[in-house]
Amino acid sequence: MKKLFVLTLALLAVLPALRAEEGMWLPMLISQRIEDMQAHGFRLTAEDVYSINQASLKDAVVLFGSGCTGEVVSRDGLLFTNHHCGYGQIQQHSSVEHDYLKDGFWAMNRGEELPNPGLTVSFLERMDEVTAAVLKGYVPTMSEAQRDSVVRVNSDAIVKSVANPDKGVRARVEALYYANQYFLFVYKVYRDVRLVGAPPSSIGKFGGDTDNWMWPRHTGDFSIFRIYADKNNEPADYSEDNVPFHPKRFFEISRAGVQEGDFTFVYGCPGSTKEYVTSDEVRYVGEVSDPQKIALRTLRLDILQKYMSQDQAVRIQYSSKYANISNAWKKWQGESKGIARLHTVAAKQDFERRFAAWARGTRYEGLLDRLSGLYARRNPAFRAYEYYTETVRTVELLSFAAQVQAALAGGREVAPVSGRFYKDYYQPIDEEIFVAMLSAFDKNLEPGYKPEYFLRKLAEYGSVEAWRDDLYARSLFTDPARVAALTADDLAAVEADPAWELYDAFSQWYLAELRPVISETAQDINLAYRAYMRAQMEFEPGKAFYPDANLTLRVAYGHVAGYSPSDAVYYAPVSTLKGIIEKDNPDIFDYDIPQALRDIYAAGGHDAQPVCFLATNHTSGGNSGSPVINADGRLIGINFDRVWEGTMSDIVFDPDYCRNISLDIRYLLFVVKEIGHADWLLDEMVFAD
Ligand code: ARG
Ligand code: ASP
Repeated sequence: MKKLFVLTLALLAVLPALRAEEGMWLPMLISQRIEDMQAHGFRLTAEDVYSINQASLKDAVVLFGSGCTGEVVSRDGLLFTNHHCGYGQIQQHSSVEHDYLKDGFWAMNRGEELPNPGLTVSFLERMDEVTAAVLKGYVPTMSEAQRDSVVRVNSDAIVKSVANPDKGVRARVEALYYANQYFLFVYKVYRDVRLVGAPPSSIGKFGGDTDNWMWPRHTGDFSIFRIYADKNNEPADYSEDNVPFHPKRFFEISRAGVQEGDFTFVYGCPGSTKEYVTSDEVRYVGEVSDPQKIALRTLRLDILQKYMSQDQAVRIQYSSKYANISNAWKKWQGESKGIARLHTVAAKQDFERRFAAWARGTRYEGLLDRLSGLYARRNPAFRAYEYYTETVRTVELLSFAAQVQAALAGGREVAPVSGRFYKDYYQPIDEEIFVAMLSAFDKNLEPGYKPEYFLRKLAEYGSVEAWRDDLYARSLFTDPARVAALTADDLAAVEADPAWELYDAFSQWYLAELRPVISETAQDINLAYRAYMRAQMEFEPGKAFYPDANLTLRVAYGHVAGYSPSDAVYYAPVSTLKGIIEKDNPDIFDYDIPQALRDIYAAGGHDAQPVCFLATNHTSGGNSGSPVINADGRLIGINFDRVWEGTMSDIVFDPDYCRNISLDIRYLLFVVKEIGHADWLLDEMVFAD
């Protein structure tokens, strides 16, 4: 008995440590977490992480483009991010003669670095809480619309007072905690960012969609860029006269390696999470939305797969589309399974019962019932909307018709749109998807949620197949020559086309039948969540709440750790080059490695070359490319993914299953040297082990 008691005490003592991995914290408030971080092994101070008085780690982290993270690694503005984050740029510079996607790209001096118009990197200069200023003039008797307008006017004024477009200084006011608090984020945006290096896709995308969201993982998911500035180190448009940017701070690189249990810290820009929603929302996501979207995407992926495996040209046409469809498809599977495994709906219901008892007699009484009622109103329309976007809107010919119509109606040229479309279009795939998607729509939506037009046409044709035969036979959009000949005078003909007609009928139906309910309930739901968020904080005053992700800079800390995905299976946290060789197979596209890598391995001595590692950091989409930092603030990896069993972390975090996947920085160094022979890049990095 006594033993049991001691054991319980011991367990209680380690529990907070285990739970501590959850959270994506605001850098400005990191002083509230620093003791816990230090208890987990971190050896730096809050000021080292975020400071507005001196250079700190935040000055070496950037928002890369508008959906990834990157980190500066030299005093001359060298920058690391993921291969999949630089993919668009690598692709843009590729042609049949120089296929950098396939073969990789390595500048051998600064003159060979390639400019990327449109690409920016944003440094966070500072953040401030501005709630009082944003709500100035607001009184509780105001309507929500009035509050919105107060917020907008005040925010605009704040942004205007600090932004300086000439100097590349941008500002944004962001609502956090469901608009209970507002923060100002001030960024310095650099816009001359050049491509320096990228491994061949057979390294940078090794494992492809087969291994995506999975462990064991062996993807060399990195690319290298450099930030340029004008002579005063200020942001400037691309110019030959620009010089490498000198950062306030850059990461030193550790080659000491990682071991299970080591402290890890991910500094980056997670995009979107919803950790504080009710059981109704979780049930909708886990039991309705995810499963229906997964089922529909399985149909599409099977169709794509069938044609791609028969024809090399089709495989190339559809590989990027396939990757896009399958990325979310796989994530949703992990998410809905994780929600079920954790009994998140029941756990939230239990929480809600306790909350409701506490709320009785307070201003929060009835809040959860109100939210429930709103979901009950929203869900049927929202489900139909999601069904529509995953079916009718995925038929390529229909969306193309809409793009052409929009171009003609807007007085723009059709050629750029049609050039892009036909290059990667294979009609037999599209026809089969048309049948599969419209059949699913017919079969799975309740009668009250189908457009009149759809029911009428289906009755006229007798079957989806007959509808398809007629539509693809009659539509002018299946004929590139006819599309090429279109002028503004043909707008009427375009709008009489059966593809446009179908697309438009569904759009009108959405606007008239679904959108009003969805947007009206969305407003009320947001409003209720503002109260519910505040209420949860009052209900659990001892709990540390981190705001849901919104692509602003966050700190997530944890440690290197393997996990057990299922009974009797344990995944070790570090993968090596040996594993790449085990997977290597010239006949499987995703596993066909460069001959150079085979040769290096065969020469011996590289068995233990580390490739990727797992840790417990709480990350999300947008954290790709984030620096993974050790206890001394040195770079040990680049974050690029999560394991699919843990993808419910956007809704509920489970320390047993949630793992982020990072590239081991030593694999980057290995590839730069052995495959890229770009030693000149290593010379400008600073190593501190
Ligand atoms: N799953 C990762 C993320 O969500 C990587 C995606 C890119 N890789 C791929 N094979 N599609 O972005
Ligand atoms: N792969 C994701 C990204 O691109 C990261 C994640 O979802 O874990 O940001």
